[in-house]
Amino acid sequence: MGQSQFVSKCTAEAVQAAAKTLLGGNLVAFPTETVYGLGAGALNKQAVGRIYEVKGRPADHPLIVHIHSLQVMERWVQDVPRFAMALARDFWPGPMTLIFKRSTLAQDFITGGQNTVGIRVPNHPVALSLLEAFNNLGGLGIAAPSANRFGHVSPTTAQAVNDELTQYLQPDDQVMDGGPCSIGVESTIIDCTGDVPRILRPGAITEEMIKELTGLSAVMTKSSEESENIRVSGSLEKHYAPAAKVLLDQTPVAGQGFIAPSRRVTPTGVTRLAAPKNSDEFARDLYTALRKADELGLQEVVVEQPQGDGIAIAVRDRLLRASNGR
Ligand code: TXA
Ligand code: MG
Repeated sequence: MGQSQFVSKCTAEAVQAAAKTLLGGNLVAFPTETVYGLGAGALNKQAVGRIYEVKGRPADHPLIVHIHSLQVMERWVQDVPRFAMALARDFWPGPMTLIFKRSTLAQDFITGGQNTVGIRVPNHPVALSLLEAFNNLGGLGIAAPSANRFGHVSPTTAQAVNDELTQYLQPDDQVMDGGPCSIGVESTIIDCTGDVPRILRPGAITEEMIKELTGLSAVMTKSSEESENIRVSGSLEKHYAPAAKVLLDQTPVAGQGFIAPSRRVTPTGVTRLAAPKNSDEFARDLYTALRKADELGLQEVVVEQPQGDGIAIAVRDRLLRASNGR
């Protein structure tokens, strides 16, 4: 393995050691149900600074603070509206990030200088036990973006994290292997600073689910009309992209990679990278398939997008950004 420590068995002892590693100011990449995160203690300016170095990400992009329970949230935020409390109670732990007005605990190096902060309770046993162990050591929260280089595809396995980041990590940093992510696309980001929820990034928690729970129609932010003073790096034009060119909804030709629902046949000479049976599988397998295209050295990948609502909306959102509108 590379420069960091690869933790292949996340035992209770290993989780405890990882929490101590974080407290010492090192980075720990850990599994969540969406994608792997690259974590640092959220109160440690130097450690958080290293996240930006390792990712190659601009320093004014805000990070999500991960916590293990709703009780910790009030330390980080102010002005939680009723609808947001309902979302937090129902969908956490889960694939959802809520944006609130920040407390003084959420400093500029977390929020990118904005007066808001993103909070998430992930639903993965390793993440939750790491967050709890870190909290018990006085840590209060783990800042973590997806564990990929800036603009690239998010990793959904520990091996993908290792392949992508190991040369930028240091010997005391750790990569924890908690198996492949069950959801496979990043969390739904919901801005809770207004009168109604506003979806900044679609994910597994959908507009319909928000409506059903809160009775409120969420506003969907389209990339074109994104407010300029909220910097959501996932909303930049080209993002979630492999090195290969991603082409949407065309007939693949020999030499190209192909990702499409299982009912589609693979034309001769085309490399099939994934054949998901439904939208959940599409989300789960997409990033691994895009990474495989790069591993195989393919120049172009054709993707036939999943249709319909639910998580298919998030998949199409990421594909649009990966393809940069091609
Ligand atoms: O599923 C996920 O959310 C994963 C796992 C690791 O939790 N994390 C993730 O983090 O995708 P990241 O940094 O790759 O993407 C989070 C997005 C970024 O585009 C960031 O700009 C946005 O959330 N964000 C964070 N805090 C924000 C805030 N206060 N206001 C608006 N956007 C925010
Ligand atoms: Mg990311």
